[in-house]
Amino acid sequence: MAKNKIYKLINLHGVQIEFLALGGKIISWKVPEKNGITDIVVGYDHPADYFTEDEYVGALCGRYANRIKNGRVNIDGKTFQLSQNTPPHHLHGGNEGFHKKLWKIKPVESSEGQSFELRLFSPDGEEGYPGNLKTTVIYTLTDNNEFIIDLKAVTDKPTIVNLTSHSYFNLNGTGKEDVSDHFLQIFADRYTPLDKESITTGEMASVENTPLDFRQPKLLSESLHSDFPQIKSKGGIDLNWVLNRYSHELSKAVVLHSKQTGITLEIWTTQPGLQVYTGQHFPGKGKGKSGYSLQPFCGVALETQGIPDAPNKPHFPNSFLYPGEVYHQKIMYKFYSDGKLF
Ligand code: GAL
Repeated sequence: MAKNKIYKLINLHGVQIEFLALGGKIISWKVPEKNGITDIVVGYDHPADYFTEDEYVGALCGRYANRIKNGRVNIDGKTFQLSQNTPPHHLHGGNEGFHKKLWKIKPVESSEGQSFELRLFSPDGEEGYPGNLKTTVIYTLTDNNEFIIDLKAVTDKPTIVNLTSHSYFNLNGTGKEDVSDHFLQIFADRYTPLDKESITTGEMASVENTPLDFRQPKLLSESLHSDFPQIKSKGGIDLNWVLNRYSHELSKAVVLHSKQTGITLEIWTTQPGLQVYTGQHFPGKGKGKSGYSLQPFCGVALETQGIPDAPNKPHFPNSFLYPGEVYHQKIMYKFYSDGKLF
């Protein structure tokens, strides 16, 4: 398998999504709109650049997305030390997380649209995690302008799992401007505050009367540079919201909209949390798509996932996986380009 091979999904409306075997990274997502075709995800022109970047651009993150305090978890009375790739903590599956792996890809039949299956075997002990973990992800593009990511995993020893997809969206087309003129709506009354080291404190706090209240659609610029300590100390937004509804059925988590292109992106999920990260750590150097360097705030990552550090916070929704069980979560992106916000 050529390392740089690009896999393509196309639908009847001319939407096209491309991805790599490396981390399942989504490298382009082209949506027809009133002025032409807009690529709504941040990235690079050349597949080779995805092998060297460190921002998880478009990647599947696992085994455990987000931060785990001190990289330590206790499973049924046994403590496991995971790799501490953001010392002393563990982030997005460790040094060689799922975003760095070459997944096995094959096209599969689906009644919903065009689909590919992505498979990965992670051996017992990898990055410190117990259990041989078999992960199967299906990417499907439907003719109703939906992109569905179906996530499944099974294990042979008790373990933890939390998978997400890490695209940075810019609905104006990547490169030209930052995302501050985007409208954002999040279906969540609460968020999880962070300590100084970006670890969840265990609290679930109300968004009421804070710049984190996106229950009604609001311009990102209204909150992005706020003095609110949970924003200011992170140099932008980098927090997890506790979604109001989560179950085995998909429910709407978040909506992003650009007035300029008229593109609206809805994300539906079965997962309990949504990490919003506004890309403040992009280094502002190197060549992104069409030669634009990837500047801070050039895209916003909207990652549906479990609540961060849940293995160490028993009152957060469970993220343990046992032999005989199937981890199964879904993310559905629904996009419109008719100019309407809702
Ligand atoms: C996000 C995370 C950020 C940062 C980023 C990758 O998911 O919330 O803190 O680590 O990934 O640069």
